[in-house]
This record gives sequence, structure tokens and C-alpha cells, in this order.
Amino acid sequence: MPQIPSGARGAVITGWGRALPDKIVTNDELSKTLDTNDAWIRERTGIHQRHIGGTTAGLSVQSARLAMQMANVDPLEIDALVLATTTPDRAVPGTSASVQHQLGLKCGAYDINAACSGFVYALINAHGLIAMGAKKVLVIGTDTLSRVTDWSDRGTAILFADGSGACVLEAVDGPGQLLAWDLDADGSAEELLYAEIGGFIKMDGKEVFRRAVRIMVDSAQKSMAIAGVTADQLALVVPHQANTRIISAACDRLGVPMERTSIVLHETGNTSSASIPLAFFDAADKGRLKNGDLVLLVGFGAGMTAASAILRWQGQR
Ligand code: UT7
Repeated sequence: MPQIPSGARGAVITGWGRALPDKIVTNDELSKTLDTNDAWIRERTGIHQRHIGGTTAGLSVQSARLAMQMANVDPLEIDALVLATTTPDRAVPGTSASVQHQLGLKCGAYDINAACSGFVYALINAHGLIAMGAKKVLVIGTDTLSRVTDWSDRGTAILFADGSGACVLEAVDGPGQLLAWDLDADGSAEELLYAEIGGFIKMDGKEVFRRAVRIMVDSAQKSMAIAGVTADQLALVVPHQANTRIISAACDRLGVPMERTSIVLHETGNTSSASIPLAFFDAADKGRLKNGDLVLLVGFGAGMTAASAILRWQGQR
């Protein structure tokens, strides 16, 4: 379990933004074409509706502009762009190239595909860039899962959706917000959740559910141990927004009451790389975070990846 070396240059989030397509699809609307119903979807997943539409680059540009505006940074000040996505607009180049161009950035840009753990992977990666000398890094998590969803498969169509969340991470003197992190993957479980190139997502929902709880708890506990933080000290837990039953089972095992989680999946569905930033920055926008609060981000996804981070919230400078 790697630990952050003392003296490593730290960073804080100085601006954030969220973007969702305008089009909302309710459970009732899905029930017109699928053998499902609103009551089942709400009870088994927590989802009431989802936003559908747009491209990965388009949604990324929207959320990133808001983040840069809040951080009051000029595009030319950004030293790197890290875009977490599992649904790039093209196979080549990375969607980050298009986002970089549309935002007017003059810096390196690359995609990270770690499925629903992607935003936490990207955030840790960005902290690494700052430790290596970058001053301002743009981190985005975006997915347009509706483009790889088989709309005739009720096992997946009720879950997946589109969205984006972004933040600007800036170097600070002295320790930054990140206290600990953990990244994990288990490629032997690849067949549980995958999409062939050009194909639709295939998922063994029950087995993903079972493993998700275990790997989220495991990753969260590793980060908490490294940070020396106990569950009762966490002001906010931001879990991957896949299913409220997964979140509540994981929180139960971690000893965190549900009131201390941020949940947006009733409105957004599962937006993969966007799910953690959408929930994180929803909590920030609602004033649920004050400086010094300890926040746990924890995700899991195809691969099967898991990722967690403990942050000491410092918000806007
Ligand atoms: O980002 C990571 C992505 N993936 C996940 O996090 C997925 C994790 N898995 C899940 O969230 C859940 O397994 C699902 C929501 C996909 C399915 O829920 P479940 O409670 O595991 O349902 P199930 O597959 O055990 O099915 C229970 C019943 C079955 O009927 P019978 O055999 O009891 O009569 C299914 O045929 O519900 C039926 N069913 C449905 N009914 C209405 C399954 N899907 C649906 C549906 N609408 N969409």
C-alpha cells in the first residue's frame, strides 16, 4: 500500500463543475419498451430517472468550463488535462485531445479508462503530476454510456446514463488535501462486465453486485488505514453511484450512516466515470462541505477496478 511521501508537493481542488444532458428519461418511459416498471427499478436500484445525450467531449467541455471559471484560471495556465472515460468519442485519438482543443488549452492531454473508478484514478494521477512539478491540472470524469447500452436489455438499460464532472487541481505550499489513496484491479473478472469495441455492455449484474460491495469496502479500508482515519471521522462518503443497495451494504460494513453519503443516482443513473464527481460536487454545491472535513471517495467498476481516496476538504482558495 503506497503512502504519500512526507514533503511531496500537495494540491487542492479550487474549482468544479457538473454537466448533464438536457434530455431526461424516466423509469416509466423505459417501461414502455422494456419488460420493467418504475417500482422495480426504484426499489432494486434507487434510480428514478437518467439524463441521456451528448458526446463525451461535449459534456467534458461543459463541466470543465464551469470548473475553470470557478477556479478563475486561464486556459493557458493549465499544465495537463486528465480525462477519465470509458466511452471515448473515437477509438483514436483520445477524447482528451478534442477537449483540450475546444477549451483552448496548450498542454498535454490524455484519457484514462478505469471504468467507474476512473475519476478517482484520474484524480490520484493528477496529484502525481503536481508532485512532479505541474501547477494546475484539469481533471474530468465523463461518460456517455447510452451509446454502448443495449436498449432492449433490461439488465443494463435501466442503469446506465450520461454525464460529466470536472475539477481544477492546484499546487499548494505545504500539505495538500490528499491524505491517502488506493487503486486496485482484478482483470480475471473481466468477463463480468465488458463491451467489445463497437458493441454493447454485457454484465453479470448479480456477481458484479456481490463483488462490488467487497472491493469498495476493501479499498476504503486500505485508504482509511493509511490516513489513520476512522469511519466516525468521515464527514462525507462519496461512493460510485451504481445502486443504492450496493452503497448501503458497503456503508453498513464500513460503519458509515447513509446520511453521511452523497447520492445523486436517483436523478442521474449510473454515469460511470462521471458518477463520483457528480455526487462529490453536488455535495459541495449544496454547502455540505466545510474546510477541514474528511471526505472518502470510493469507486468500483469493470476490470474489476476499485479506487479510493481520503481528502481533507479545502475547497476554494
Ligand atoms: O458501475 C458498475 C455497474 N454495475 C453494477 O453496479 C450492477 C450491479 N448489479 C445490480 O445493480 C443488480 O444486480 C441489478 C439492478 C442489475 C439487478 O438487480 P437484482 O436484485 O440483482 O435482480 P435479479 O437479477 O436477481 O432479478 C430479480 C428478479 C428476477 O425475477 P424472478 O426470477 O425473481 O422472477 C428478474 O427476472 O427481478 C427480475 N428482473 C427485473 N424485473 C423488472 C431483473 N431485471 C428486471 C427489471 N425489471 N429491469
